[in-house]
Amino acid sequence: MSIRLGDAAPNFTAETTEGNLTFYDWKEDSWAVLFSHPKDFTPVCTTELGAVAALKPEFEKRNTKVIGLSVDPVASHEGWVQDIEDVTGHALNFPLIADHDRKVSDLYDMIHPNADDTMTVRSVFVVGPDNKVKLTLTYPASTGRSCDELLRVIDSLQLTDRHAVATPVNWKSGEDVIIGVGVSDDEAHERFPGFQAKKPYLRVTPQPTD
Ligand code: BEZ
Repeated sequence: MSIRLGDAAPNFTAETTEGNLTFYDWKEDSWAVLFSHPKDFTPVCTTELGAVAALKPEFEKRNTKVIGLSVDPVASHEGWVQDIEDVTGHALNFPLIADHDRKVSDLYDMIHPNADDTMTVRSVFVVGPDNKVKLTLTYPASTGRSCDELLRVIDSLQLTDRHAVATPVNWKSGEDVIIGVGVSDDEAHERFPGFQAKKPYLRVTPQPTD
């Protein structure tokens, strides 16, 4: 069954390049990104894993742990990890699940038989500190994901989790935000003094700083 926003992220135990782990224990109360790769030794995945490794400090700044998944065994991952470093210049610095029995792929519905009945699609699950799914993305095998977009949506998820605001089209951290529709004008004057009402339902304010 597909996993929807707000669902509890299924817990699992898996073999990874960093040993066996249980997802909730590994994640603790941080945010997490779980992302799948169709197969080891494939070109697009190689570029994605190197790029995420290079951006680990950016994920850490956001209190976010990253974990990858591919449906091949650890011994295969170990050979591929060397290639990833050779090609991208970045050593893998987060666990890569060896989902050879497809346990986690099935749990998270990462295999879409009408696309391919053995390889996973490029799924992304962003999971909050409460272990609830906050965002899902699904890309086909032929399209590499955007790390910039991933960091951008994490910024939005974390900001909108802390404040009664929403983020507009193409928003980036530091830009103006929209006051939540559930906030009355009286409350908005108190919480977001000087906000600008472009329409009664579209009220804009600088991004809260904390
Ligand atoms: C890739 O990662 O390059 C890839 C994987 C599976 C199918 C097509 C491309």
